[in-house]
Amino acid sequence: MKSIFALSVVGYTISVSAAPAHHGFHLPANAQILLDESMKWMDTFYDSSESYLYDLSATAALRHETRSSVWYALGLLARHENDDVQQAESIIGNVIGAQFKIPSEQWYGDYQKYPEEPYVGSPVYEPDIYNSWDPNWRGFIGTTLIIAIEEYEHLLSESTRELVLESLYNATKGDEYRVGGVDDDNLYPAYSNPSIMRAFMSGWTGRRLNEANMTVSGEKYAQDIIDLFDRNNTLSEFNSGTYTGVSLYGLTLWCKYLPQDSVMAQHGPEMVKHTWEAVSQLWNPSLKNMAGPWDRAYGYDMNRYLSLMALWFWVLVGKDNSSLISQPQVMSHSADYAYAPCFAVLAAFHRTLVPDEIVNGLTKFSGEHTFTASTYYPPIDNSPRNITTWVSEELTIGAESFDENGLGGPSQSQESFNPAVVQWWTGSEVSFISLYPTEEALQVGVSANKLELEYPSGNSSSIFTLIVGTFKQNRTIADWSGLVGLDVGVSTNANESYVLSFGGANGGTSETIRDFEVWNFTYAMPQGFQGVPKMTLDVRLC
Ligand SMILES: *[C@@H]1O[C@H](CO)[C@@H](O)[C@H](O)[C@H]1NC(C)=O
Ligand SMILES: *[C@@H]1O[C@H](CO)[C@@H](O)[C@H](O)[C@H]1NC(C)=O
Ligand SMILES: *[C@@H]1O[C@H](CO)[C@@H](O)[C@H](O)[C@H]1NC(C)=O
Ligand SMILES: *[C@@H]1O[C@H](CO)[C@@H](O)[C@H](O)[C@H]1NC(C)=O
Ligand SMILES: *[C@@H]1O[C@H](CO)[C@@H](O)[C@H](O)[C@H]1NC(C)=O
Ligand SMILES: *[C@@H]1O[C@H](CO)[C@@H](O)[C@H](O)[C@H]1NC(C)=O
Ligand SMILES: *[C@@H]1O[C@H](CO)[C@@H](O)[C@H](O)[C@H]1NC(C)=O
Ligand SMILES: *[C@@H]1O[C@H](CO)[C@@H](O)[C@H](O)[C@H]1NC(C)=O
Ligand SMILES: *[C@@H]1O[C@H](CO)[C@@H](O)[C@H](O)[C@H]1NC(C)=O
Repeated sequence: MKSIFALSVVGYTISVSAAPAHHGFHLPANAQILLDESMKWMDTFYDSSESYLYDLSATAALRHETRSSVWYALGLLARHENDDVQQAESIIGNVIGAQFKIPSEQWYGDYQKYPEEPYVGSPVYEPDIYNSWDPNWRGFIGTTLIIAIEEYEHLLSESTRELVLESLYNATKGDEYRVGGVDDDNLYPAYSNPSIMRAFMSGWTGRRLNEANMTVSGEKYAQDIIDLFDRNNTLSEFNSGTYTGVSLYGLTLWCKYLPQDSVMAQHGPEMVKHTWEAVSQLWNPSLKNMAGPWDRAYGYDMNRYLSLMALWFWVLVGKDNSSLISQPQVMSHSADYAYAPCFAVLAAFHRTLVPDEIVNGLTKFSGEHTFTASTYYPPIDNSPRNITTWVSEELTIGAESFDENGLGGPSQSQESFNPAVVQWWTGSEVSFISLYPTEEALQVGVSANKLELEYPSGNSSSIFTLIVGTFKQNRTIADWSGLVGLDVGVSTNANESYVLSFGGANGGTSETIRDFEVWNFTYAMPQGFQGVPKMTLDVRLC
């Protein structure tokens, strides 16, 4: 018998079905709500005739998508109603059937991005890492299959179980091809989220299949990750609304599914705790945002894009205390919502790794404070990055000094690297000022109401581009005085006559960034400039 009860959540009512009694597996209340709501959404994308989810963007002319289908399959196993298990097995069979099987190819053991794609590496479809194939999908999909085995092995047929283990063996072998800097790959131990998943998959699969070399290789890779982390108790891929979420997911797997003889089981719990300590200092419950700087961000305001950290907040302190709106599928980057079943299933165990005072601190602003940290991402960082973040209730300033051998931070992406960020409450929304990274080195100073920026290797061609949010209360601005709720004073040795442009969805001379419409204030250096380009922003709520 299945029990149904109604739960009232500010403004609307949802029904929550508890797991069938014979299943004997109950999720904590918040995790159950996350599972139920995300599955209800994904159900509407499920194509049972193909046993795949349609692409969740709804902009793919009914093509399907592999990774979200596997996450959904885990959700089906966790829900375990009607023919859920049968559908899950069918999805898993499809996905593994299409897993790349030729050991001489760089994408060996990886999973297709979507079933309709031409064969990767055929003359008409070049292998293009992170485009036509994504090396991180071995980890995303492989770890999900491991959770399926660990939690729901009893529901799976013998043949599915064997297929999954064979698939994991191949995915782990393929991951071993990955060496940062070789063949266009960038998997260094510092690339925290996939490196944590790689070490886990190798350690787990090696033990399960009695492949001692695989186990040892996972342990060794894990030790490199641990050594980097232990430097300053920080992830090398630091502070990302999305990827800190993946790293916490991977570290939870280290703690939950590996035996004590593994360095991952030994060090994982401390790493989770330290990561949450940093998150709790940076998370501002009043703005519902993690303050900057962000090594990799998929937006400028977590209330408007779906971050994976929001799913951790959901399971720890409830949806209303997270940064999600009631229909998360409407937010930017919403396809990541499909990851929800993994978070729901791990939630109870994950909660045991997070100290009570940290969980309690996530729902109430703890008072003005300054957070400092250091982290290191070899070989992209020439020296450690140093982070300072000032957090007050309605205004935060966070920035990092760095010196790197490329543009765009650890992930070499100018769009996602936000090395200096101001966020504030305008009275009706969160807005932001973010330095768009156009230099390989930056020195910052952060203190109450003040952000100092310096380009140590800058020259007369340097620019300062400040990306600024839009304002409900002032749609059309002409200068800094147009910002709502914040007074900004700029002192600089750049030419003070800046260029203001709008990055709109339908026009303006700049571009939207990560779906956000933005204002772009760009300062150039005066003609014939010599010296170090500098800028100081004095910011005050008004
Ligand atoms: C694993 O790889 C081998 C080649 O090494 C291949 O023959 C086999 O079909 C693959 N298994 C799966 C499940 O893809
Ligand atoms: C394991 O590693 C050792 C030492 O590198 C090697 O000699 C051996 O062939 C490997 N075994 C397998 C099964 O790959
Ligand atoms: C970071 O680690 C280095 C080397 O272990 C140490 O000297 C430094 O004090 C640490 N800094 C912080 C902020 O933890
Ligand atoms: C949000 O946090 C507050 C304070 O801890 C708590 O009382 C409330 O139940 C939480 N909301 C949800 C939906 O869990
Ligand atoms: C970060 O701080 C360390 C220790 O003070 C220093 O050696 C390093 O150069 C700093 N990094 C940057 C990019 O300034
Ligand atoms: C300034 O530095 C950049 C990057 O090193 C270089 O490409 C550019 O040519 C330099 N500009 C001048 C005017 O020296
Ligand atoms: C919007 O900002 C401009 C300056 O950029 C200012 O002149 C105008 O009065 C502001 N409008 C509103 C409605 O605040
Ligand atoms: C910001 O504006 C400047 C000057 O108009 C332009 O060169 C630059 O490409 C813009 N930056 C972004 C990220 O849109
Ligand atoms: C500053 O920029 C303005 C507008 O582009 C330009 O007219 C002026 O010559 C520049 N001043 C210097 C010193 O480069």
